Amino acid sequence: MQGKIFMLTGAGISAESGLETYRSVTGIWQSHKMEEVATRDAFLRAPEKVWQFFALLKAAADKAVPNSAHRAIAASMLKCKEMNIPFFLVTQNIDTLHERALAEVGLPVSDCIAMHGRLSVSSCVKCRKSFNDPFIHFDSRGIDSNERVKHLAFFSELETLASVEHEKEHRLPLSPCCKDLLKPSVVLFGEEPQELNKCYSEVLGTSVFVAVGTSGKVAPANEFARWAVRLNSGVRTIFVNTDQSAASDTFKEFFTGPATEQVPFLISRLLS
Ligand code: APR
Repeated sequence: MQGKIFMLTGAGISAESGLETYRSVTGIWQSHKMEEVATRDAFLRAPEKVWQFFALLKAAADKAVPNSAHRAIAASMLKCKEMNIPFFLVTQNIDTLHERALAEVGLPVSDCIAMHGRLSVSSCVKCRKSFNDPFIHFDSRGIDSNERVKHLAFFSELETLASVEHEKEHRLPLSPCCKDLLKPSVVLFGEEPQELNKCYSEVLGTSVFVAVGTSGKVAPANEFARWAVRLNSGVRTIFVNTDQSAASDTFKEFFTGPATEQVPFLISRLLS
C-alpha cells in the first residue's frame, strides 16, 4: 500500500502552460529587478511598482490553463482520497493552476497549499482582510485599469471585490473595509510564507517526497526534502525537472524531462 505522498511544486510545472519561470535565461528575474517589485521594502517604498509587476503576472496567469501535469496531480489526489492514501500538495506558485485543476475534479481549492500566496487574492494592509480580487488594477503600461480576470481560482469563503476605489497619487487600489491600500496576497521576499507550520507538520509520516519544477533556490520550501529525510531515513526523494543539476544531494531518484510527460508517468508508477 502506497504511503503518504508529499509533493512540492515550483514554476517549472506551469512552464508548459505558457508561464515564465523565474530563473531561466528568459525568466522573470531577467526582466524584472526582484528588489524593486517583489520585496516587502519595495511595497513600502513604491507600491505602484509592485502592483504593476503582479498585474503582469496576474494577466498572464489568467490566460494560462492547467496542463497535463496539474491535471494528473489533481486526478491522483482524487484517487488517493478514495484509496485513503494521504497526499499533501504544496506549491510555490501563485498562478492558481493547481487550484483550477483541483476544482475541475471537484476537489476544494484549499486542497492545495499555496505557500507564496495567490494572484487571485488581495488584502487590506491595515486590517489584513482578504478579498477575491478579480481586477488587474494596472495594465502593462502601468496605467490603472478595471480589466477583470476570468479564470483564476477564487475562494468561496472570501468576499469578492465588486468594484475598487483608487487613491489619487498613483491610482493604487484601496480596500473597501479601511480605505487603506490593498496589497496582492502574494508572499514578498522578507515576508513569512503562508501555512508554513502545516507544511512542516505534514512532512511527518511522508513515504514519498516529490519536488516538481523547482530550482530549490528559495527557503523554506527548499528545506522540506531534508526535513522529510530527517524524520524518515527511508523516505523516497524524487526530483522531477528538465534539469537535474538543480537537485540538492537530498534527492535520490530523478525523472528527467518536461513535467507534462514525467508527472503522469511518475504518478502511474506510484499508484499502480
Ligand atoms: N518541466 C519540469 N521542470 C521545468 C520545466 C518543465 N517544463 N521548465 C522549467 N523547469 C524547471 C527548471 O529547470 C527550474 O529548475 O523548473 C525550475 C524553475 O525554477 P525557478 O524559476 O527558480 O522557479 P521556482 O523554483 O518555483 O522559484 C521559487 O522563487 O522567485 C521566487 O517566489 C518565487 O515561487 C518562486 C520561488
